[in-house]
Amino acid sequence: MKHLIAPSLLAADFSNLSSEVDMINKSEADWFHLDIMDGVFVPNISFGIPVLESIKDKCKKPMDVHLMIVDPDRYIKAFKNAGADIYNVHYEACTHLHRTVQSIHKEGMKAGVTLNPHTPVAQLEEIITDLDLVLLMSVNPGFGGQKFIENTYPKIERLKELILKKNSSALIEVDGGVDNTNARKLLDCGADVLVAGSYVFKSKNPVQTISLLKEI
Ligand code: DX5
Ligand code: ZN
Repeated sequence: MKHLIAPSLLAADFSNLSSEVDMINKSEADWFHLDIMDGVFVPNISFGIPVLESIKDKCKKPMDVHLMIVDPDRYIKAFKNAGADIYNVHYEACTHLHRTVQSIHKEGMKAGVTLNPHTPVAQLEEIITDLDLVLLMSVNPGFGGQKFIENTYPKIERLKELILKKNSSALIEVDGGVDNTNARKLLDCGADVLVAGSYVFKSKNPVQTISLLKEI
């Protein structure tokens, strides 16, 4: 499978959200990556349900929603109604992860589980076959523009091993500090989806930057 690119709107110009969405629509990007932060699970607040609702009809590609919030179970239906196609919850925020994953599937969304940099992939051993996606954080969640954590490379390899061992069809997505200096190696280690925020939106020609990541 050709790898996928999911630009993170966190780095977009929110005063021009509509044209940023159009830019992603016309680019080679595969998904919209939407970072939801509650100021409790992470030390930052981003945007939420009303913003997604306002762009959902404009977004012509799947909406990959990354919930950096406590108790993500409470909002599964609300985000589904706001246009989410993929619902990514943090392992660290879910006490009853298996139930959460079932609820996501019941709403007809793909279920992703996100791991903070310190959380070992082995924690997913008993649930990996139920997942559509695992999102590995390659920075501590909460902010765009942070430095990539090098330990992500062997972590991807360990996750890939687990996925193959368990015959799971989960995709591996990597989020944080992704750019042209690490993208090739991430893919070689086994990543399927690359999230990129600052690298795309702060570049002179974001459409071209997305193509570059797509062709890498
Ligand atoms: C971090 C977010 C990321 C972030 C990535 O908490 O989950 O999706 O927007 O931004 P960059 O690519 O700038 O590290
Ligand atoms: Zn994210």
